[in-house]
Amino acid sequence: MAGPGGGVGRLRPVDSSVNRRYAIAVRFDERFIDEIKSRLRPSDVIGRTVKLQKRGREYVGLSPFTKEKTPSFYVNDDKGQFFDFSSGKTGDLISFLQETERLSFAEAVEKLAGEAGLALPEVDPRAAEQEKVRQGLSEWLETAAQWFSAELTRPVGRDARAYLEGRGLPQGEWARFRIGFAPSGRTALKDYLITKGARPHELIEAGLLVAPEDGSAPYDRFRDRIMFPITDQRGRVVSFGGRAMDPKARAKYLNGPETGLFHKGHMLYGLAESRKIIAAASSEAQPILAVVEGYMDVIACQRAGIAAVAPMGTALTEEQMEVLWRHHPEPTLCFDGDRAGIAAASRVIDRALPILKAGKSFRFALVSGGKDPDEVLREQGPAALRAQLSATTPFVEALFRREHDLEPLDTPERRAGFKARLRQAAAAIADKDLQQAYRDDLLGRYDAATPRPAPGDGRFSREPWVPNRPVRGGGFARGKAWIDPAPTTLGRSAARRLATSLDLIPAAMAHYVILDPVVLDDHLEDDLAAQGFGEPALVELTKEIIRLRLQSEHLDSATVTRHLASCGFSTLLTDIDRAAATSSAPILKSDVSLEAARSQWSQAFARLSRLAALDEAIAAAKGHLGEPSAMEGLARLKGERDALKRAIRDWTE
Ligand code: UTP
Ligand code: MN
Repeated sequence: MAGPGGGVGRLRPVDSSVNRRYAIAVRFDERFIDEIKSRLRPSDVIGRTVKLQKRGREYVGLSPFTKEKTPSFYVNDDKGQFFDFSSGKTGDLISFLQETERLSFAEAVEKLAGEAGLALPEVDPRAAEQEKVRQGLSEWLETAAQWFSAELTRPVGRDARAYLEGRGLPQGEWARFRIGFAPSGRTALKDYLITKGARPHELIEAGLLVAPEDGSAPYDRFRDRIMFPITDQRGRVVSFGGRAMDPKARAKYLNGPETGLFHKGHMLYGLAESRKIIAAASSEAQPILAVVEGYMDVIACQRAGIAAVAPMGTALTEEQMEVLWRHHPEPTLCFDGDRAGIAAASRVIDRALPILKAGKSFRFALVSGGKDPDEVLREQGPAALRAQLSATTPFVEALFRREHDLEPLDTPERRAGFKARLRQAAAAIADKDLQQAYRDDLLGRYDAATPRPAPGDGRFSREPWVPNRPVRGGGFARGKAWIDPAPTTLGRSAARRLATSLDLIPAAMAHYVILDPVVLDDHLEDDLAAQGFGEPALVELTKEIIRLRLQSEHLDSATVTRHLASCGFSTLLTDIDRAAATSSAPILKSDVSLEAARSQWSQAFARLSRLAALDEAIAAAKGHLGEPSAMEGLARLKGERDALKRAIRDWTE
């Protein structure tokens, strides 16, 4: 059966343009109509009168226009269109209502506005005038974008061209993102637009010129900057972001001000291009929609074929979240794996929680190694970027782990506090059904995470990026109780071993590898790694990690974890978590820096290697015990081994 893509040639749009022009002039501007469409899913509205079945990313049903027996009527939500192959009609929601309910354009719009919960605009003669003004501004912004692009190709743009090429953004890509250059003259853009007939006050309203408070002549807002046009969801220029060429510039990025056309809290950079990427994606897989931090990150993702948007220099607002949900049920929020990124993720959790609804949520992805998507693309290529953005954590899990990691769960009071925080988080959700579902899910996770808790449980999470809030009260030293119940180091280790049956040091070593797989890169050939760091129970697992590493150009924690879980290591992973948490190895402390953790891990690896070599040498020496020098050698070897063991054991304290 030919899908809509296959037979578009036979389809004829249901034309309402005469009506439409009239209605817009009289009453509705295009923005209002866009707003209606973006709030309604065609499949929901049409699904009320036509029985639709989901097939891939489309819905199929019997044509409402003919008496067909085999379904050839398609609805595509991404495209906002229906396609009827039996009558040859195609159109949007408005034309659907006009056709099936015999409504005028204005009546159809009114009806849909009601469904979308939008108040009808007042009939206001000034509205038409305002719309004209906005259109005028929009034209100047478009002209400015074209001029910036042209400047980039002129002699004045030489350094800017070199800068972009040097950043791995070649000339062939500039047109797609409409990248331009604002030269450093004070009134270069102004002069040009004035010759084209612009009046200064229009350019001020459009955000292109700055009007000094002292009333002196307005001048160009963007000077000596690489220019990124910001467009609305249809691709019309509404503002600009400009990146300074001069590293000493006051602001690295400068964005246009709030204007009649540009509302920062509502707009998302890259949305129009993302819609195209999503609409063009094959129907089997739901494409991702990534929310990243910056202009260059959006561009990097889109070059790698990933739909991506960014807020402009501010935290994601509720309005932007709603906009995102109109284009994707579960956008992926990407953050740097550093502290600032984790704090930002935590803020998003709090902000999104109240407005989550059935079928609308977010996922979290952390870009590893403190890189942003732009750097990942340049250093590791598109496949690596896709892999990082595809390894995601569901919202509920990120929320759970954030609360889980707030403080140790080693007393009934803390466990009860943890449970209360989970209930509180669920209660913040306004949607009642979802609230209930979250409560059940979070409490289920609570039960699973706190089975007969032993001291020390729950101190560490497996993945390092879990959004973590500052400890309340500010003074709680993680993992250090003020009364230490353990009598001796040895006694404590023995007890811990019983609890887990996994040797704690190898467990801590393996745990860290799962967190930060790159540490293994220097040891892929070493026997010690392939031998589970000396713990037989870990041999299969470490071999699997090495195998995975040899197959992938890049490996991150989420990927390793997922892969191991899919190979049946889930139980072992839980044991490792438990043992590693108990080991209190310094590399697993949350406040250790990445560099320090890596160097400590390597040092521990070297010691364990040496220990294995000593064990071998001792065994060999025992074979020659007849010779006096062998006795001496054996004593020396044993002395070194004991010292080394002590050093290794101390490492865990
Ligand atoms: P970053 O400082 O992380 O920069 O700002 P970046 O995007 O990685 O930029 P490059 O790679 O150095 O070119 C992230 C985003 O925050 C906003 C911009 O939207 C930027 O893309 N920002 C940053 C500002 O609005 N103003 C600033 O001064 C800096
Ligand atoms: Mn960057």
